[in-house]
Amino acid sequence: MAKIINTNLDYLARPAYNDVGRPIHFVPQREEHMPDRILEIRDLHVSVGDAEIIRGVNLTIDRGTVHALMGPNGSGKSTLSFALMGHPKYIITKGDVFFEGKSILAMAPHERSLAGMFLCFQYPSAVPGVSVANFLRNCLIARHKNAAPLTPKEFKSLLDNACARLKMDPETLRRYVNDGFSGGEKKRLEMLQALVLQPTLSILDETDSGLDIDALRVIAEGIEAQRSPDRSVLLITHYQRILNYVKPDVVHVLIKGKIVKEGGPELAQELEAQGYDPLINELVEA
Ligand SMILES: Nc1ncnc2c1ncn2[C@@H]1O[C@H](COP(=O)(O)OP(=O)(O)OP(=O)(O)O)[C@@H](O)[C@H]1O
Ligand SMILES: [Mg+2]
Repeated sequence: MAKIINTNLDYLARPAYNDVGRPIHFVPQREEHMPDRILEIRDLHVSVGDAEIIRGVNLTIDRGTVHALMGPNGSGKSTLSFALMGHPKYIITKGDVFFEGKSILAMAPHERSLAGMFLCFQYPSAVPGVSVANFLRNCLIARHKNAAPLTPKEFKSLLDNACARLKMDPETLRRYVNDGFSGGEKKRLEMLQALVLQPTLSILDETDSGLDIDALRVIAEGIEAQRSPDRSVLLITHYQRILNYVKPDVVHVLIKGKIVKEGGPELAQELEAQGYDPLINELVEA
């Protein structure tokens, strides 16, 4: 049986910064046989209760790319991420979502997760009674059910490696999931899950918010570490500062449930300088 879990996390060994402290942006090499498109959102409309929050979103993410999704508070970024993962409160009233070429609308959240989608929550929940190590072990077993099982030693090495990368206290592994964690510790734990599970698509909902300067850099390294030829990241953020470390291929701006502008990394700088008002005014005029 082939072992498909990368126990050494070799991919984490790639240096994230050059010797003057600037991030090294990895240029992924695509392999011929892999379909290029990881995610395709087509004319998506999502309602919560009676309110339509997402109002016709189109967005595509190619393999090996990092996309940033920005937008004012309440514009629908988290709603979009919940809808992508199949949260039952978020009802898709129109449109479709394709993950690696297949519509996922009929799939339950756990099936989307097993297929390779992963959501870092904006507000992670505590799960008292379930230790971090046990939680990750069970997630890993479920996700790689056809792989040879990891020995306890291999599993420990995997966790130790990821913990070291994120500068997390290994004692965290014994604690209950997010129980009593500080805001920054919760964000690191979300990133730890992404590093260990190695999803094909990571949706990171404000994984950079509430972090001190050192933690921001550590999380940014975690995001950069996920950049690979066969994996992609959708990074939801309010801040240009994370984009100083993680260079997105595409920036999308969501306002009032619609993507109103798309561009390269310079778009994030523009937003930082001018805010959303010019875009909102354009929308109002239109
Ligand atoms: N479960 C819910 N019940 C009621 N309203 C909801 C629910 N989820 C989202 N909404 C509403 O949908 C709108 C979009 O919320 P959402 O959390 O998606 O915004 P956001 O872009 O993620 O904002 P932020 O930047 O503050 O995180 C808000 O007006 C919010 O109140
Ligand atoms: Mg949000």
